[in-house]
Amino acid sequence: MDVVAALAAKRDGREIPAAQLRELVLSFAREELPDYQMSAFLMAGYLRGFTAAETAALTDAMLASGERLDLSELAGPTVDKHSTGGVGDGTTLVVAPLAAELGLQIVKLSGRGLGHTGGTLDKLDAIPGMRTELSSRELIDQVQRIGLAVCAQSTELVPADRAMYALRDVTATVGAPALIASSIMSKKLAGGADTILLDVKVGSGAFMHDTHDAFELAQTCVELGTAAGRRTAALISDMNQPLGTQIGNAIEVREAIEVLRGERTGRFTELCLTLTAHLLVLTARAQDLKDARRQAEQALRSGAALDRFRRFVETQGGDPAIVEDLSRLPIASVTCELSASQEGCLESVDTESVGRAAASLGAGRMRKDDQIDPAVGIELCVSLGDQVAGGDPIARVLARDKQTAERAERQLRDALTWSTETVVPPPLIHDTIEPRAPA
Ligand code: URA
Repeated sequence: MDVVAALAAKRDGREIPAAQLRELVLSFAREELPDYQMSAFLMAGYLRGFTAAETAALTDAMLASGERLDLSELAGPTVDKHSTGGVGDGTTLVVAPLAAELGLQIVKLSGRGLGHTGGTLDKLDAIPGMRTELSSRELIDQVQRIGLAVCAQSTELVPADRAMYALRDVTATVGAPALIASSIMSKKLAGGADTILLDVKVGSGAFMHDTHDAFELAQTCVELGTAAGRRTAALISDMNQPLGTQIGNAIEVREAIEVLRGERTGRFTELCLTLTAHLLVLTARAQDLKDARRQAEQALRSGAALDRFRRFVETQGGDPAIVEDLSRLPIASVTCELSASQEGCLESVDTESVGRAAASLGAGRMRKDDQIDPAVGIELCVSLGDQVAGGDPIARVLARDKQTAERAERQLRDALTWSTETVVPPPLIHDTIEPRAPA
């Protein structure tokens, strides 16, 4: 293939044939195509955009770069739920046991957090003893036994995505909808589940800041999943503030357990119930969303989902006693309380900055090899539209020392904007993209 001619075509806004795209991606994954040519391709594509045919070809090529998980031994229905990344978003910890309790088989290959976003694996690592590296055999056996497994994606699955993502991260080309869609969907398709539910985030803490872009991304992902024969749907959910009240690792596990114990209401609980309900409808385990919602609420109320979570933790080597005794989770040594300097209504949250403040405490990574401190994080006591009086608590910073706590406090204060007027919070769900009939 004439690589320079293909780059010139993309630079000039012409469509690249599928066979050439495949060759570009696969030769990059084999380390034959140099970084500088792939970088040029990514930037040209970022600026010019990709057609639907190019996005499908990119996804196929990335999928072809590695192995796929074979779930044919599982009776099903096998499901996967994927969030495009956010802050205080521990939904997997609740939705996976809840959906497993309701008869679904959850095969969840998760990632670590990067930058301001949290990752499920880092949260699970906060549970003493928990293992997140499972072989394919262990994963399938576990799903057969208890209906769910959440573990790290093997390096053999979609190696092209790993290499391309690393390059996108340092060439300012992460944000192209087609590149995000092909990155997400190649991994979901390699994960093997029959049914895929995407939770596409929109807002100040998401990759997509506007609903139109989020809709385009969600629609592209649904089309790619459908074309590959998977039942795929998407919700577009709000990320203009952290989803839960906790932003960290051990504290997000704690919040998830409190939801499973039926002790918490609010946006996080609501989204967990909504996602589970959609999974039940997609897999025909419920007649409609109302019936599905009733089943999900019942599994929470009865303690059955909590029990499933306990079995999941125990099976993956974690300490099951955390479910009753939250003090067994790591606890930060320094706690600082932030209070409102005057009365006002919370108008906006720079959610990305809140995520960065948590990461700067050690709850996330600013670079790939940064060490996570499972105990630290931020507890937000306010959400959009809340009215406070001067002196009311607005947040708690959990840190390993006073100095990092003070830096995070400053970042957090700067991230919150207050108004003297009443503020109407955004809806939790902006849109739903229903599954299509396979072509
Ligand atoms: N999540 C992914 O898996 N890939 C992207 O490109 C962005 C978010």
